[in-house]
Amino acid sequence: MSEEIVVNKNLPTKEIYGELLPQIAALIEPSKHLISNLANFTAAVFNSFGKMSWVEFYLRKGDKLFLGPFQGNTACTMIRIGEGICGTAAERLETVIVPDVNTFPGHIYCDVNTKSEIVLPVISGNELYGVLDIDSYEYSAFDQEDYKYLAELINILTKKINSNKVSLA
Ligand code: SME
Repeated sequence: MSEEIVVNKNLPTKEIYGELLPQIAALIEPSKHLISNLANFTAAVFNSFGKMSWVEFYLRKGDKLFLGPFQGNTACTMIRIGEGICGTAAERLETVIVPDVNTFPGHIYCDVNTKSEIVLPVISGNELYGVLDIDSYEYSAFDQEDYKYLAELINILTKKINSNKVSLA
C-alpha cells in the first residue's frame, strides 16, 4: 500500500482527525516492524497539523521513559516516571493536557519555545508501553477534542501492535 497521507491542514481540527483516522488505520500494519509503525504514526500526525511542534513516543523501560520515534527537534533522551509532564502522565496512567507549560511544576524544557503540551499514556492490557507526547509553540493548543481523537489513534495503534506481539521495551 501507499504510505502517503493526504490531509487538508486548513480544515478545523475535528475534520483533520476525521481524515487522519482511517489513513493511520491503514498505515499501521502488524506485519511491519514496531519502530517503523511508530515512526510513520508520528510523521502522519505531525504533518497533518500546523499547530504541532513535536510529536514523539517515549518508550518505557522499568521506571524510565526513553526517546523513541519522533518528529521535531532533538529532544531529551530519558525521563523518569513521575518527572515532567511525560513522567506524570506515565505515573498516573492518564492523559495530561497543559495549556501553559510554564505553570506546570517540574515541566522539563526540551525546547524553550514550547508553550503547551498534551501527553497520553500508551497502555495495552495492564502494561504501560510508553507515552505519546505532543508539543506546540501556541498556548492552549490542545483540548478534549484532541484527547478524544488521539486516544482513538492510540487505540488503533495498540490493537495492531498487540496482534504483532512486539514489546516496546
Ligand atoms: N516537556 C516534556 C519533556 C519532553 S519534551 O517536551 C520533548 C515533559 O515535561 O515531560
